[in-house]
Amino acid sequence: MLALKRLLRTGFEYVEDWFDVVFGAKWNPFYQLGALGWFYYWIVVISGIYLYIFFDTGVTQAYKSLEYLTHEQWYAGGVMRSLHRYASDALVVMMMVHLLREFAMDRFRSSRWFAWFTGVPMLWLVFAAGISGYWMVWDQLAQYIAIATAELFDSLPFFGESIARNFLSDEKLTGRFFTLMVFMHIALPLFLLFIMWIHIQRHASPKVNPPKGLAIGTFSMLLILSFIKPAVSQPAADLNIVPTTVNLDWFYMPVYPFLNDVSGITVWIVLVGATALLMMMPWMPPGKRELVAVVNLDNCNGCSRCAADCPFSAIDMEPRSDGSVYTHEAVVDSNHCTSCGICVGSCPTATPFRTKSELSPGIELPEDRIKELREKTIAASNNLTGSDRVIVYGCDHSLDPSAMADTNVGVVTMPCIGMLPPSFIDFVLSRKLADGVFLTGCREGDCNYRLGIKWTDARLAGERDPRIRQRVNQERIGKFWAGLTRRKEFFRKLSEFRAGLSKLAAEQAEDRDNATENSERSNA
Ligand code: HEM
Ligand code: SF4
Ligand code: SF4
Repeated sequence: MLALKRLLRTGFEYVEDWFDVVFGAKWNPFYQLGALGWFYYWIVVISGIYLYIFFDTGVTQAYKSLEYLTHEQWYAGGVMRSLHRYASDALVVMMMVHLLREFAMDRFRSSRWFAWFTGVPMLWLVFAAGISGYWMVWDQLAQYIAIATAELFDSLPFFGESIARNFLSDEKLTGRFFTLMVFMHIALPLFLLFIMWIHIQRHASPKVNPPKGLAIGTFSMLLILSFIKPAVSQPAADLNIVPTTVNLDWFYMPVYPFLNDVSGITVWIVLVGATALLMMMPWMPPGKRELVAVVNLDNCNGCSRCAADCPFSAIDMEPRSDGSVYTHEAVVDSNHCTSCGICVGSCPTATPFRTKSELSPGIELPEDRIKELREKTIAASNNLTGSDRVIVYGCDHSLDPSAMADTNVGVVTMPCIGMLPPSFIDFVLSRKLADGVFLTGCREGDCNYRLGIKWTDARLAGERDPRIRQRVNQERIGKFWAGLTRRKEFFRKLSEFRAGLSKLAAEQAEDRDNATENSERSNA
């Protein structure tokens, strides 16, 4: 399983690297799958409302009303119908890739079980909503899926009367059936919306809107497709004949061809079994859960920076419980915490300059204490030589930089680069532990803990607390967001950075020489 996941992740990252080249990290659709899902959903809803205005719920009228929209009103109704179909297909594609990607990136364990677990019913809801939509057209495809689905339900022991009997002849079919379908086709997407909302409840500022450019590009593609290949119905349903060929929508109906060869009950067992397996995945081995962040009230001043930076809404600011002069304190919800450490990076008390013997900030990870980060930094710098000594800070979820540790490079890693308080960079440079600090981690736009890279960039740029002190020479800070696959580029960037440090050292030496010469001249 681990090998499969690693393989999948590497595959994803290689493909995504190419998308990065074409779209840039900001518009890379792989980093925006959830947001695209929401976008497609809204297209489906808006186009659906338009179609509903003209849709006639009757055995013969339903087909006719859609024919009218497709052919007579092709410029509006036809386009809306095509958008409705293609956005629904795109939603399925997005959902399956999103599922596979979260699995490959191992982003479904720990407190992330919640998003995974709530994602699984969405699979059923999306498929059921889509199939009920095809049913409403009442063409030969609808006839085929109506009978096949009814037989599938008939194979369950709970239904007394056969549902498939309703489809024996046109006379037996009533308008009530269509009304029921319309109800289902509206109720299911509404319920889906509710679950979609629940799905993102544990994410701080979840991505539910794709960047403008990506949204315009995606919509334009759907629109162009709607004109080039408008969605049409198949011949009208006729229960007196058995349709010989129907064109299935493979996005929504991949199960149907199996119904010819396998018994209904077997299909149910596979579907329900696969659903149960998916739902249990967050708790399956190997699943070591790291200890969650803990607050040390003695050092918490209630500034709320940790609550603002936590990507998983795991910190609440509550009234002080220890009688301190401060009004609030940070409280960690252990069910939400993913042990990313980003809160530690944001805490003003997590500074290596503190002189207290026990360096214990307001908040920290019990398994990755800030005191240990300082010790590791000092140890990594101990035997470095030359004028281009670098401390590389990396994260545990991208390429392992420890392989490049040598006489000029010391390496320290942590769960997420967002855990590094900017004061550590100041510490390394001002104490001359190294000549430069180089940061690396997941790829831009795809931080394993969502916001680690974003906050790190903002802190270094002086746009977000805790900001890096102005005295720190930015030329001595380098960064490259490498992920797993950009090893070569990482080496190149690091070498360039080191070359820059050597140049700085040479310039400084020259300045020093000039200064000494000048002072000797003035003394003489
Ligand atoms: C209609 C379908 C779906 C939509 C619209 C959707 C949307 C989203 C969105 C907007 C996010 C938050 C992304 C972010 O801000 O970082 C998210 C996260 C997530 N989704 Fe979905 N999702 C869908 C289906 C699924 C399915 C079927 C699964 C898996 C069974 C799934 C698993 C997850 C997981 C595990 C996360 C958390 C990722 C993280 O913590 O970084 N989703 N989804
Ligand atoms: S470690 Fe901190 S930032 Fe990360 S999820 Fe837990 S409380 Fe939030
Ligand atoms: S950032 Fe640190 S000091 Fe501020 S509220 Fe959080 S734990 Fe307390």
